[in-house]
Amino acid sequence: MNITCGTDIIEVERIKKGIEKFGEKFLNEIYTKKEIEYCEGKNEAKYEHYAARFAAKEAIFKAISPYLQNKYDITWKNMEILNNKQGRPYANINKDKIRDNIEIDISLAHIKEYAIANCTINKK
Ligand SMILES: CC(C)(COP(=O)(O)OP(=O)(O)OC[C@H]1O[C@@H](n2cnc3c(N)ncnc32)[C@H](O)[C@@H]1OP(=O)(O)O)[C@@H](O)C(=O)NCCC(=O)NCCS
Repeated sequence: MNITCGTDIIEVERIKKGIEKFGEKFLNEIYTKKEIEYCEGKNEAKYEHYAARFAAKEAIFKAISPYLQNKYDITWKNMEILNNKQGRPYANINKDKIRDNIEIDISLAHIKEYAIANCTINKK
């Protein structure tokens, strides 16, 4: 069994500025439709949720990089951060270009200023 991990932290303000400046172009480059629906449902706190998903994708990239042939094998939009009925986040990833059998787990947290994410990958 092999375990790799990745972590990332981001300022919520950075994501807020990106969204305010570039609008849908920014959103559609980074986030899937379901992610946008989830975050937009959070009203005032939506930028925290967007930032957490941005951090999660960076954390996943760090953890998954040993399994990529080419760093462009994984992109913002071929991974998606969703939540189960209890609110626990999970990552849906297009694994077409990953030959190893891997399991991915993530954890997110956010406050007004910062969002943080961790990813753990277990190679079976
Ligand atoms: C779910 C809970 C942990 C979230 O913590 P919080 O301080 O409100 O918020 P954080 O910023 O730390 O975390 C938010 C993220 O937690 C994640 N989360 C929510 N429910 C979760 C769950 N059941 N399991 C794991 N992660 C969860 C989500 O990813 C959420 O972010 P998102 O909505 O953008 O996806 C908290 O509301 C809770 O229920 N705590 C229970 C505490 C408790 O009972 N303690 C006593 C025993 S230790």
